[in-house]
Formats: sequence, structure tokens, C-alpha cells
Amino acid sequence: MKIQLWREALAPYHLAVEELMVKFNHIIKECRETGNYSPIEAVQGRVKKISSILDKAQRKGIPLNEFTERLDDIAGIRIICQFVEDIDTVVRLIRDRRDMEVVSERDYISHIKESGYRSYHINVLYEVNTMDGSHKIQVEIQIRTMAMNFWATIEHSLRYKYKEELPEALSARLKTAADAVLAMDCEMSAIRDEIVDAQRLFQEKASVVADILNNLQNLYSGEEEYEDAMLNIQNEFYEIYHNGSLEELEDFGRRLDKLAAVRKVQGLYSY
Ligand code: GTP
Ligand code: MG
Repeated sequence: MKIQLWREALAPYHLAVEELMVKFNHIIKECRETGNYSPIEAVQGRVKKISSILDKAQRKGIPLNEFTERLDDIAGIRIICQFVEDIDTVVRLIRDRRDMEVVSERDYISHIKESGYRSYHINVLYEVNTMDGSHKIQVEIQIRTMAMNFWATIEHSLRYKYKEELPEALSARLKTAADAVLAMDCEMSAIRDEIVDAQRLFQEKASVVADILNNLQNLYSGEEEYEDAMLNIQNEFYEIYHNGSLEELEDFGRRLDKLAAVRKVQGLYSY
């Protein structure tokens, strides 16, 4: 029997998880920057701990020199969504990608597990390149809502404590909790449009304010002769911010943009 070099064997899995985290987080960033709703709320990733790999290999009777081929969840990505509907969007997004090849899908949302577990699983092959060449890595992607994630995280820690043998009373409680989570996801879906709209407004206001303050600071640039004028503009901003509508704030922002453009031209000619 050869010595198992864990660090070398797991290195491509770490790379795969890191790369995929960057890619899925980039989707969030792209959506936010273009003022669009992001179907992904957050991304988590992990490489299975060596102790968990040992446990699972033993449980399934897998020899350790075969674990990389036979365990499909050494690399794991978890995509958390706000609403159940977003899960479909993420699933379609993954199927359409050229950099991952879907191997299998399991829908525990339409087919809730006996335990009460809900999530959508997609297993993909993802290619990474390291110093020793290219590796096709199996990655398990779990897609779930925040509510599903709350339940699964808690249930998982209890399951760990009781080593899969949950006492009857506890698993009954967890099933009741799973029903409540399902009801909550349905309620949230029913008011999804309202919530998404509120979040978009919040985002828009934050971005208008950031632009205004950035412009104000650039305009000021420490020149004393403009100090009074700048103070007036700043007061006007506070007044609109506290008492005005978003439209008024956007209008103020546009006026400031124009002022900034004029000042920029003046600045160019003053050299
Ligand atoms: P494994 O032998 O664990 O790979 O089972 P499987 O290949 O049949 O996959 P399954 O889809 O059942 O589970 C894969 C992963 O989903 C698990 O490792 C957990 O992370 C998660 N999962 C599945 N069932 C449950 C459950 O009842 N509770 C929780 N908390 N997580 C679950
Ligand atoms: Mg599995």
C-alpha cells in the first residue's frame, strides 16, 4: 500500500472550489452593477474534510486509492437564493454554461426527502489546470433558498451529533419545522414582486447617493473660492435626501453631473 498524499490529491479540488466561487460571485456582482435582480443571494464552497472523506469511504466500502473517482462531493458549492423561483433560474444558468458539464441532477424540491430535506442538486464536471496538467473535477452544486439552508444546516448538525440515528421525537420536530419552512417559502414567493421592487429601490437610492457624494467631493477639491457654493449644494442634497422623492434625488444627481462636466472643461482650459 502506498502512502496517500492528501495534499496533492486534494489540491485540484481546492482550486475548483475557489474558481467556482469567483465565477458564481461574479454573477451577483454583474447583476448588482447593472441594476438587475440577482437570482443568487450568496455562494458558499468547501472541500470535504479528510475525516469526512475517510468516514464516507469506509461507509461505502470505497478503497482509498479510488476515492477521487468514486466520491462525487469532495468539491461542494452551495448557492443560496432568496426565492424558490430563483432556483430554476440558477439551474438554467448552470445548464447553459460552457465551463461545466452537467452529469446528473436531483430535485429534492419536487421530491422532498423523507427527512424533510429540500434542495436542488446538480453534479458537474469542471476542468482545472494545475502544474501537473488538467483535471476534470466532480463538483456537487446544491441550490436552495435561505429558508431551506437554515433547516438543512441545523438538521445536519443534529444528525452529526446523533450519528444518523435521530431520536424519533427530534425527527418529528424537524419535520414540523420543515413544513414551516415550506410554508414560509410559499408565503415569500407570493409577495416576491413586492420584495424585489423594494430591494431594487433601496439599491437604486444607494447608488444615486454614492454618485452624488462622489461628484460633490470631486467638485470641491479644496478650493476656497468655491466653499460657499459647495456648502449650498451640500445643504440642498441633505434637504432632498431627507424630504424629497427618489426622482428628485436623481434629478439633483443629473444637475450635479452637468456641473461636474462644466467644471471639468474649465479645469482643462485653466492649464
Ligand atoms: P451521499 O452518499 O451522501 O452522497 O448520498 P447521495 O449520493 O444519495 O446524495 P444525496 O443527494 O442524498 O445527498 C448529498 C448531500 O445532500 C449530502 O451530503 C448533504 O449535504 C445533502 N443532504 C441530503 N439529504 C439530506 C438531509 O436529509 N439533511 C441534510 N441536512 N442534508 C442532506
Ligand atoms: Mg452523493
